[in-house]
Amino acid sequence: TSSPIILSIESSCDDTSAAVLKGRQLLSNITANQSVHKAYGGVVPELASRAHQQNIIPVVEQAIKEANIKKEDITAVAFTRGPGLLGSLLVGASFAKSFAMARKIPLIEVNHMQGHILAHFIEDQNNLPKPSFPFLCLTVSGGHTQIVKVDSPYEFEIIGQTIDDAAGEAFDKISKIIGLPYPGGPLMDKFAKEGNPKAFAFTHPKVGAFDFSFSGLKTGVLYFLQKEIKKNPDFVKDNLADICASVQHTIVSILLKTYKKAAKNTGIKQLAIAGGVSANSELRKRLKEMETNYGYETYIPPMSYCTDNAAMIGIAGFFKFKNKDFAPYTISPMARMSV
Ligand code: KG4
Ligand code: ZN
Repeated sequence: TSSPIILSIESSCDDTSAAVLKGRQLLSNITANQSVHKAYGGVVPELASRAHQQNIIPVVEQAIKEANIKKEDITAVAFTRGPGLLGSLLVGASFAKSFAMARKIPLIEVNHMQGHILAHFIEDQNNLPKPSFPFLCLTVSGGHTQIVKVDSPYEFEIIGQTIDDAAGEAFDKISKIIGLPYPGGPLMDKFAKEGNPKAFAFTHPKVGAFDFSFSGLKTGVLYFLQKEIKKNPDFVKDNLADICASVQHTIVSILLKTYKKAAKNTGIKQLAIAGGVSANSELRKRLKEMETNYGYETYIPPMSYCTDNAAMIGIAGFFKFKNKDFAPYTISPMARMSV
């Protein structure tokens, strides 16, 4: 049998994305970012939902055009069922359901977190080596921070996770404290390049062996800055690069210290990262260094699969398609879903 052509839709937060895959091969991956949230310092759910409604049809049409296929060629439709903002998920789910129903083709529901992890299996021009099973994945995004043991494309076990803020949330909230616009993660990464990561030291949290916590760091940075600003009102402006480098260094050190512990404990040597924060240059560099320093095999996604995108939903959909794991046309999205 020939490879299925899967149209996939991602709309869990503030990016509207559509992709087309032929089997595991990516044919197109189109994402419309929403700029409406910049003025508010975070994603406004109602505005996100409205922007998805405006973007979804042009984004899907672009994805089909770039894939150089016809609508009639599409074998199945995959969509993000959750977790995410309900109003945002509803737009992608309604579109996917209507499209599948109208064309009488199978519908596939995908867990967004599984999508981030399975993005490592997309075939494209990058031709990167693929992990084999089992492997570990550190999934770090705006809403999640977890270490997952991946036994197959269908079996995921959470080994540890954050007990409060996610790593991306820490980047964004601390960026907000120092006056950077949302989302601050990529900007902090950029400014950190010019700074000294050891300029300021922040304490690491005390949590369970494979768990994370970032809300203490946020408060720690806030109090530190308040104290320094009393002495020098321009402290943040004068030390922006050093503050960014030191905060980023602390977050990445916390992530990798715990990840190493989990690797040691499980005996698994294949270490992947996924999610928006896996775009972070220090995290990518220091994980890569663990190959030479500790003999791990590491899997770092191309930048285009780090932040939210439909290609990752398409590959997860492909694995479910192989199992004929289809969803009824009556299915509803869910704001909360475990990996
Ligand atoms: O996976 P994602 O696109 O959306 C969620 O599912 O949450 O992740 C978005 C998160 C944001 O918190 C953003 O600040 C962070 O990923 N992020 C980064 C970088 N690029 C994106 N954080 C640090 N450094 C980056 N280069
Ligand atoms: Zn995500």
